[in-house]
Amino acid sequence: MHNFDAVGRRPGSRLVPRSANNLQRLTCAIGILLSLSISIHAQSNSPEARAANLAVCRQRADALLARMTLEEKIGQMVLITSTQVVTGASTNTSPLEREIRASRCGNVFNAFGADYVRRLQQIAVGETRLKIPLLFGFDVIHGFKTVFPIPLGEAASWDMEAVERADRVAAVEATAAGLNWTFAPMVDIARDPRWGRIAEGAGEDPFLGSAIARAAVRGFQGTSLADPSSLLACAKHFAAYGAAQAGRDYNTVDMSERTLREIYLPPFNAAVDEGALSVMAAFDELNGIPATANRFLLQQVLRDEWGFPGFVVSDYTSVNELVNHGIATNEYDAGRAALNAGLDMDMQGFIYHDYLQKMLQDGDINQKQVDDAVRRILTVKFALGLFDDPFRHASDEREAALDNYPAEHLNAAYHLASESLVLLKNDKNLLPLKPGSNLAVIGPLADLRSDLLGSWSGAGDPRAAESVLASIKHDNAGGQVVYANGCDISSDDKSGFTAAVDAARRADVVVMLLGESADMCGEASSRTSINLPGVQTELVGQIAQTGKPLVIVLMNGRPLALEEESSLANALLEAWFPGTRGGQAVADALFGKTNPSGRLPVTFPRNLGQVPLYYNAKNTGRPINPARPREKYKSNYLDSPNDPLYPFGYGLSYTTFTYSGLKLDRDTLHPGESLTVTVDVANTGQMDGVETAQLYIHDLVADVGRPVLELKGFQQVELRAGEHRQITFEIGEKELSFLRADMTWGTEPGNFDVLVGPNSRDLQSARFELAGRPASR
Ligand code: NOJ
Repeated sequence: MHNFDAVGRRPGSRLVPRSANNLQRLTCAIGILLSLSISIHAQSNSPEARAANLAVCRQRADALLARMTLEEKIGQMVLITSTQVVTGASTNTSPLEREIRASRCGNVFNAFGADYVRRLQQIAVGETRLKIPLLFGFDVIHGFKTVFPIPLGEAASWDMEAVERADRVAAVEATAAGLNWTFAPMVDIARDPRWGRIAEGAGEDPFLGSAIARAAVRGFQGTSLADPSSLLACAKHFAAYGAAQAGRDYNTVDMSERTLREIYLPPFNAAVDEGALSVMAAFDELNGIPATANRFLLQQVLRDEWGFPGFVVSDYTSVNELVNHGIATNEYDAGRAALNAGLDMDMQGFIYHDYLQKMLQDGDINQKQVDDAVRRILTVKFALGLFDDPFRHASDEREAALDNYPAEHLNAAYHLASESLVLLKNDKNLLPLKPGSNLAVIGPLADLRSDLLGSWSGAGDPRAAESVLASIKHDNAGGQVVYANGCDISSDDKSGFTAAVDAARRADVVVMLLGESADMCGEASSRTSINLPGVQTELVGQIAQTGKPLVIVLMNGRPLALEEESSLANALLEAWFPGTRGGQAVADALFGKTNPSGRLPVTFPRNLGQVPLYYNAKNTGRPINPARPREKYKSNYLDSPNDPLYPFGYGLSYTTFTYSGLKLDRDTLHPGESLTVTVDVANTGQMDGVETAQLYIHDLVADVGRPVLELKGFQQVELRAGEHRQITFEIGEKELSFLRADMTWGTEPGNFDVLVGPNSRDLQSARFELAGRPASR
């Protein structure tokens, strides 16, 4: 599957360079600097070139394989953590260095720093018989030292070039510290905000998710994996991990193959198609079979259907967990099930390490299975250039040069943080604020720096960040800022309320910084409430009673239920966890130095009872009549509207955009043809701004019921105040295809609606017919 918008442009690419405002000038300057070190799209990296290179690497791997003992082969299938960083329950009792020296460990994770990596690599290439270099993996998720917004925030930018650049920066920094493999991108679609890991992905939509998966792989892997600044990407968690029942991490998943293939798999397919050479099997059980031992996923879909040439790694002890899943009686059994399913590398489970040899002796697995797995792993090591220079990724000079955060890296982080901000409400244009204001800044996230970085913040150092409070003080030159914490993020303590209300009374405008702590999102951080934690909502109530104009800035890693806050605040800005430069990005947006352009990559429900709530839903047999939403015997609730508080794709700007003149160049589309959709977008406000025009389709009648909306294209257009531009989308069979009743991809003739607009709710539509003979029913 390909996921480009119909005009062949990458989704999210801008139609014109950003024009003159501060951020835009800065961006141009950054672009010039970046071209020296973190440039993107430098040369072509075609699938053909990649395949030819891999064929050579495979031959070299085969030659090496022929010289290896069984023990050496098994060592290549083993991945062990160092104790430098802990990312899972500790199970490792074997000294890492001893295992490497004995050729029983071919890959290491959670170890970085040029010096340390070099020491471990030196053991592998200096003290083992075949001198096979190690892979060094780490969770480089949204930056390494320079931290970018959490992935959900990155996705809110809808700017694929900025996402690619962020991951390029991450790769440059991580490889300087010796890493050659990142456990990213996480491309799990997620529709349940209770799941803490929704923060780590691109949200709910397969089209946007696929575009981001591609951008991330390009960013991490660069134009050639053999480049010393390229980091091997790992698409995770394969698959459907984001659909954990009740949003509880690691929980069971049970879903139709149709939903799996149409919604959850496309971003993985995109990552593989873009050249990601490793995939991580997920923790979850999918339709009865844990992903780690799921041959349908690892062999049939990944290798047979998609032709994935790389290797599959387990998640942290997920092979051992097959026993808990109840599909293996013991570790031996678990290892056999995983290998038989096509799992090549065991992360931290010590099962391949301890049992593969015996399995082979007992005839429970065969030599070819081991050889195939090792060949895949070695092929990737060759592709990374590790046999040519095993130390290429550990560079004291590069590492030292990055110590002081190069300006271009920080600027890229600032740029993406700015673009990730989603303005959800702005009554009477309360924002932007005027410098020189009399402000009260209130709330537990105002003066924190560590939480700005979010979960999985790599080697990020909060000391490199500036709090939102400090940045506001800086931007509000000539004005006054009184700060009151008000309350903690999650405790019940209200003793700070009085001082906060006092501060609010003395101010002209109140800015509240509210949300979750960074560790409330990410792995093992599911919640049964999606309200603001602690007594924050109560504090909002008290501050609102002062009658002062109220701006709420939110930091959180999941959609929150914000009905009350949004009714009490005059302005609401979603800032996610915005990263190292997030403090400045937030303050600059509040003061209008930048104009928010982010759009929600995930639906914000009104309440948890509506979950799962996503835009690409089915109509049902009893859809509501919007004029009578509570009508009996319709698909609705007694106690809540059906619609979300803020829909997918939503986000305001300090300017306004108007859509008009939606046109299709034909009413009937014949097979093989494509249709051109044009629409005029005008900036009708007072400020320059960026608009993200979104194109959705609705297949009105098919043998299989289709969603009411499916995103099929988006474009960012930058318009000066008063400017307008016609934008164009193309729709062809690819955009109209779906998994038909017989489970083949293709189209069915009939009527389609094309819908274009600023979000999934406020759309203009036009209809066309796809000609052809109806399928026999
Ligand atoms: C477990 C997580 O599920 C996975 O995403 C991560 O890459 C590994 N731990 C390694 O830290």
